[in-house]
Amino acid sequence: MSSLADIRVDNLISQWTLSKRSGQVKASIIREILKITSKPNVISFAGGLPAPELFPVEEIKAACQRVLEKYGPPSLQYSLSFGIIELRRWLAEYISKRGFKVEEDEILITGGSQQGLDIIGRVFLEEGAVVLTETPTYLGALQAFDVYQTRYVAVDMDNDGMIVDQVEEKIKKHNPRFLYVVPDFQNPSGITMSNERRGDLVQLAQKYNIPIVDDNPYHELRFKGEAPDSLKAVGGDHVIQLGTFSKTISPGLRIGWMCAKREICYAFERLKQGADLHTNTFAQYVVYEYLASGAFEKHVEKIKNAYSERRDVMIKAMEENFPDSVSFTKPDGGLFLWVTLPEHVSATDLLEKAVEKGVAYVPGNPFFAQGGGYNTMRLNFSNAQPEKIKEGIESLGEVFKRHI
Ligand SMILES: Cc1ncc(COP(=O)(O)O)c(C=O)c1O
Repeated sequence: MSSLADIRVDNLISQWTLSKRSGQVKASIIREILKITSKPNVISFAGGLPAPELFPVEEIKAACQRVLEKYGPPSLQYSLSFGIIELRRWLAEYISKRGFKVEEDEILITGGSQQGLDIIGRVFLEEGAVVLTETPTYLGALQAFDVYQTRYVAVDMDNDGMIVDQVEEKIKKHNPRFLYVVPDFQNPSGITMSNERRGDLVQLAQKYNIPIVDDNPYHELRFKGEAPDSLKAVGGDHVIQLGTFSKTISPGLRIGWMCAKREICYAFERLKQGADLHTNTFAQYVVYEYLASGAFEKHVEKIKNAYSERRDVMIKAMEENFPDSVSFTKPDGGLFLWVTLPEHVSATDLLEKAVEKGVAYVPGNPFFAQGGGYNTMRLNFSNAQPEKIKEGIESLGEVFKRHI
C-alpha cells in the first residue's frame, strides 16, 4: 500500500470533476507578481500594504485583554450574522456623521471589504450579468465578480474620476446590475471623483434605478484638501457603501462593513451565512473596544502624517528623476499613485528590468476590465520607508531613461 506521501495531489485533482468556474477565475496577478518582487533587496512599490511599524500593537493588545475581561465567553462564541450590536451602533454613528443618517440594522459586518464584494456578487450577479466599472478599477473586485462569469462595461476616467457623460449610453445599451466605483483615492489610480460627477452619477442611478456600489477603503486617509460629499450622502438608498478598518487599523483583523438599506442588508445576511455564518466574533469585539477607547482618531492622524510624508517624498523624487514623457497622478490621500508611460512602452516588459535594478511595481493592464493600459503602472507609497522610496524611484528613473 502506498503511503499518503506517495500520492501526488495533482494526479488526484486531475481525476476529480471541478466546477467550470474554478478553472475560469484567474489567480490574482498581483499575488503572482508579489512572488517575483518580494525578493530581498528589491524595493517594492507593488503591494498595497499599510506600514507594519505603524500598527497599533500595544493598543490592540490592551483591547484584547479588555474584551476577555469585560465580555468573557460570549466574545469567543458564535454570534449574529449581521455582526455584534456594539460595533454596528458605533458604525451607525460614525457613518451618520458623513451626512446620511443610518441605523444599526442598515450595517452588516464583513470579513473585510473583500467579503463585501463577494456578497455583492452573490446577491446581484449570474452568468452574463453586466457590471459597469471605472477603468482602471480595483483588481480584487474583478476577481470577486469573475466567479459569476460576469461581463464588464468599462468607463474611462480623467482627473475628476469616472467620466459620467459616457455612462447613460452604456446603461441603456447594457443594462448593468450595478455601477461599481471607488470614488475616494481610487485603487489603483489614486484619483478622487469630483462632487459634480458624484451628483451626475447618482442622478443616473436614480433615473434607471440601478444601485451604486461605493467601495470606500481610503476615505479616512485624506492628507490635504477638502473631502467631496460622500456618495451615500448624495445618493442615499441608491448607494451601497463598503467600508473597512484594513487601511486604518490593520488588514489582518479582517473587519469591514456594508451599509445599505435594511431590506437589502437582509439579502446580504442570507448570502453571507452560507459563507462563514458570521464574521470573527473576537476580532469584532477587539475592534469595537479599540474604537470605543478613543485611540482610533489619534491613530488615523498618525498614519496620515506618515503616509503624507511618503507620498511627498515619492512625488518629489519622481519629478526629479522621471523623464518628461512619463506622467503621474498626485493624489491627496490613499495609498497609491498611477504612472503613465509613452503609448508604445509596455510596463509589463519593463518590470523585469526594474526588478534587476532592485525596484518593483504592478503593471497597470490587469486593472483594466476590458483590456488595455499596457503603458501604465501602479505604485504604492505607504509601505516603504521614505529613504527607500527615494532610492527606489531613483532606480526606476534610471530604468525609464534607459529603456524609453
Ligand atoms: C478598493 C478596494 N476594495 C476592497 C479592498 C479589500 O480590503 P479589505 O482588506 O477590507 O478586504 C481593497 C484592498 O486593497 C481595495 O483597495
